[in-house]
Formats: sequence, structure tokens, C-alpha cells
Amino acid sequence: MAIILETDRLNVDQIRAALNEPSQVCTTVQDAHEIMESKGDNLVIVGPTVSMQQVSDMSKHCRVTRPSLGVVVVRDYVSEHDLRLALESGIRSVVTSGDATALQNAIASSTMLSDEISAAMGMDGFHHMGKIFMSFSPKGGVGKTTFAVNLAASLAQNSEIRVCLIDLDLNFGDVAMFLDKIPDVTLGNLATAQGQLSRNTISGLSTSIDSNFDAILSPSHPGIGESLEAGRILELLKLLRRNYDYVIVDSTAQFTDLNMDVFELADEIYILSTPDVASIKDLKTALNVMQELGITRNKQKIIINRLDPRISLKITEVEALIGIKTSLQIPEYRDAIKALNQGQTLVTFRRSNPISTKINGLVKALLEVRFAVSPSPAMPEPAPETSAPSGLKE
Ligand SMILES: Nc1ncnc2c1ncn2[C@@H]1O[C@H](COP(=O)(O)OP(=O)(O)OP(=O)(O)O)[C@@H](O)[C@H]1O
Ligand SMILES: [Mg+2]
Repeated sequence: MAIILETDRLNVDQIRAALNEPSQVCTTVQDAHEIMESKGDNLVIVGPTVSMQQVSDMSKHCRVTRPSLGVVVVRDYVSEHDLRLALESGIRSVVTSGDATALQNAIASSTMLSDEISAAMGMDGFHHMGKIFMSFSPKGGVGKTTFAVNLAASLAQNSEIRVCLIDLDLNFGDVAMFLDKIPDVTLGNLATAQGQLSRNTISGLSTSIDSNFDAILSPSHPGIGESLEAGRILELLKLLRRNYDYVIVDSTAQFTDLNMDVFELADEIYILSTPDVASIKDLKTALNVMQELGITRNKQKIIINRLDPRISLKITEVEALIGIKTSLQIPEYRDAIKALNQGQTLVTFRRSNPISTKINGLVKALLEVRFAVSPSPAMPEPAPETSAPSGLKE
């Protein structure tokens, strides 16, 4: 709920018209402080009749005592003096009265910033903050999409969890095919979304897979994907995280600006590789690049896919080569292609096939941590670096 601090009824009505949430009105700074203390609100909109000096003092105070609180100020006329006071005191925005769009944008960006600050400070509860999991590989065709789709489908088997799967393979995305969907809307529609993104934007981009499972599918034509700005997609991801419990990102096998931004934002990066020398060599190079980029090691989880004991490198050999423990091994399963041809996910295709067993096991461990039922044994933290055998050493 937002707080409106304003003495004039008409001004209050104008501010209310721009708000998408319930509000409580007060007429003094003292009352505003009291409501903040008792309700834990994260947004105060101050109307034109309250002096700029009073707002500035309130904002300065809250900047220290309540960093997640956003103060948005409405003025009949925005002077240079007002802007200077706003800058000095950490007021998030100053908008002119009557400009409903500017006020809506200021409210939306303040809310997003408050959510991020709340999450960073571990103050969950006021606003929702889901997890972003990215499926990545340095080499193409090793199972990124298979993993992303089935991770999302497995999570969504729990009806209490809201899942969004987003295909960031903007040119040649396959998620629609894996889910057997011909999309009416795609991520391409983001190019025409104006202004601040909102829940309506999400509805305008997503395809419903199940009651608790949506997918944002990649544009139907490669050229459309190229017109999408990485910054806008990141904005969307941040919004998705506030609207779903898990956002699963399928990606491409490249170090694009977009992928590097998602590395930063993601809570976990599942890095897939197949257990052969060529893929492992690329994996090792990718891990080095990620280290140079400063990507947190703890959020990188190595998944070895298509493990076939008859022909694959052994896991111990793989781990020695890359110098890091793997987190999950998924066996080769010949009927994976059959499921794909039938438009079924592996978690719904034949009970207990080896891929669904592994991914369901991972999900069980994730949910045990989420609901704090018991500690998770399934995803070991990466071990300290070991020296790699000469074959893949640089
Ligand atoms: N464990 C597995 N066993 C057998 N086949 C698999 C397995 N994992 C993936 N596949 C098959 O490998 C092929 C490539 O998988 P997928 O499309 O998921 O890879 P990708 O990394 O997303 O590829 P791209 O880089 O082209 O996006 C698919 O036909 C898929 O069915
Ligand atoms: Mg793919």
C-alpha cells in the first residue's frame, strides 16, 4: 500500500488516479512517519501543498532509517531549487502535477527499486522476489533447451509455484517447439511496448502452458529478435522475477552482451556440457572467461548431459579437466528425441525416464531449500580448483 501525503482533496484524487494500488492518505509528515512505522509501506507520494523543505527532511531521515522507502514528489511547478533539494535528500522523482504518465512511471520505477533494495537487504515479505535460473552452454546443441524446458515443467508440477520460462535464443529459439506451441504472441512484442513495463506487458507477451506455468517464446523471425535491446529484456526479467517464483531462462551458446547481463542477474547459472573432450575444452575456456568477468563461482552449476558410460569421459576425468566439481549428471536417453517429436516434455513423457528422474531430483532439492523442509544434499557446491591434466591445460 502507498501513502499519500497531501492536504488538498483534488490533488489527492489526481494522485490516486495514477496509482495501481490501495493508498492511505495523511496530511502531516508526522502522520506519514507513523503509518510507515506501523504498516511497512515502501512508497510515499507527496503532493504540492507540502513544502519541499519538509519532504526533503523526511526523505533524508528515511534514507538512513528505511533505505527501501521511495519518495515521489508532485509539484505544481518544478523549480531548480526543488530539484537540488531532491537530489541532496534522495527523493526518487519530482513530477509536475497533472502529468499522470510521468507520475505512473515514477511510481513504477520507485517500486522496482524498492523491491531490489528489499531483496538485497534480505527484507523479503513486502514484495515478492523470485529466482532466476539460466540454462547456458559454451557449445551449441548440448541440451540447454532440453534442460530449461524440463526444469520449468518439473517446477510447475508443484501447483503452488508460479513458473515462467523465457526463451532468450532470440534468433533460433526452440522452446515453442519443445512445448508444442504455435505462439500468438512472442518476446518480439516487447519491441512495441511503450514506457514502463507492467504486469500487462507480461500478459501481452506470454503463452499459458498451465495454470501456474507461462512461457515467453522467442520471436518467430530472426530479424525481430535483433531489434530487441538487452536493457529492455533485463527490465523484463526483473519484472518477471517479481511476478513468478521461478524464471527459467533458455539462452544461446555465446558470450553476447545479453547473456553476460543475465549471468549477472541470475541466481543460478546451469552450465551444460556433454562429456567429450571437445565440449569439455570449451567448458573450461568458458569457465575461465566467466571468472575474468567476475561472475560469482557459487552460482555456476555444471551439468554434464548425455552421459553414456560406454563412450563418455568419466565424471572424475571431467572434473579433473575443468578443476571444478560437477553438480548434476544426466544420462543419454535415446527416446528424448521421441518425446520432442511427440511435443511432450520429458517430465510428462513415460514415467521415470532417466532425464526426468534427474531433473525432478534437482527440483526436489531446490524446493526443500525453498520451503526449508530439510537441507539439500543434491547440488554440491563447487570444489576448490584442482590442476587439470595436460590435455586441456592452457
Ligand atoms: N540426455 C539426452 N539424451 C538424449 N538426447 C538428448 C539429451 N539431452 C538433449 N538431447 C537431444 O539433443 C538435441 C539438442 O538438445 P537441445 O536443443 O536441448 O540443445 P541446445 O543446447 O538447446 O541446442 P542449441 O544450442 O541449438 O540451442 C535435442 O534433439 C535433444 O532431444
Ligand atoms: Mg536451444
